[in-house]
Amino acid sequence: VSGDFQRLVPGEELDARGYVEALSLPAPAPAQRPYVIVNFVASLDGHIVVEGRSAPLSDPGDRALFHALRERADAVLSGASTIGIERYGRMIPNAETRARRVATGRSPEPLAVTVTRSGKLPLDAPLFAEPEANVVVFTPTPPPLDGVAAQVSFEPYEADVKQPLTGALATLRQRHGVELVLCEGGPRLFGSLLEEGVVDELFLTISPNLVGGESGPALASGPPLPELAPVHLRSALVREDTLLLRYAITT
Ligand SMILES: NC(=O)c1ccc[n+]([C@@H]2O[C@H](COP(=O)([O-])OP(=O)(O)OC[C@H]3O[C@@H](n4cnc5c(N)ncnc54)[C@H](OP(=O)(O)O)[C@@H]3O)[C@@H](O)[C@H]2O)c1
Repeated sequence: VSGDFQRLVPGEELDARGYVEALSLPAPAPAQRPYVIVNFVASLDGHIVVEGRSAPLSDPGDRALFHALRERADAVLSGASTIGIERYGRMIPNAETRARRVATGRSPEPLAVTVTRSGKLPLDAPLFAEPEANVVVFTPTPPPLDGVAAQVSFEPYEADVKQPLTGALATLRQRHGVELVLCEGGPRLFGSLLEEGVVDELFLTISPNLVGGESGPALASGPPLPELAPVHLRSALVREDTLLLRYAITT
């Protein structure tokens, strides 16, 4: 194996926005759906939460990448429970970032998109109190929206069909003009997307922490895939002790 290794550190210096701007995103996706990238943070020993939330695992580098990916995305897709637990607010809180998008002919913020079979939405999350937020909810059972200030629209969700998320992605492309979807989890949603074979890339931040204890939820939950899904490492950044990895999913 001599000559098979490459040293990553030290390397070239860059910032998160420059990194994301230089990515070829969205890469060509199948005509019927947007290109789908997924972003997660995990501890070195594989935990995705500490006391139920991901924030303790994040650091300024992870947050910079998180915001740079949001700036690039047309829609941010998250499971309804993640929006509630992680206390989601508007997609782009920074006015300068919104202005940058508008200056290039885009909407100020990506659409906030969620899915729920039960129709249970975390309406107490700050996102729903934000009048400028545009939220699209895929659900077979739309709930009442009493006291919600955000602009919320419902799309039908055919929970009984074989590939319901593939249908929802097609709707995002056809009805909302979405070409790049950033999925921010959680694991049940990521697992379902993997099962349907509609994930193009995974951005994974390895937080330089050990959580210990029993293993919590994995990055992706749900039934195991019928066979191992090979991935291809497209880039690896390091910031202080944090690794920021980008994988293409080839299945
Ligand atoms: N470390 C990280 O980067 C990271 C990222 C995100 C989340 N998290 C953590 O993950 C935990 C939440 O995990 P989770 O797996 O429960 O959340 P999740 O993936 O957000 O999924 C559950 C929610 O999304 C809906 N959902 C998921 N898959 C669906 C599908 N295929 N079709 C329709 N609806 C679907 C469910 O609604 P119904 O039950 O109503 O159908 C449910 O509300 C939180 O503790 C959060 O902090 C960590």
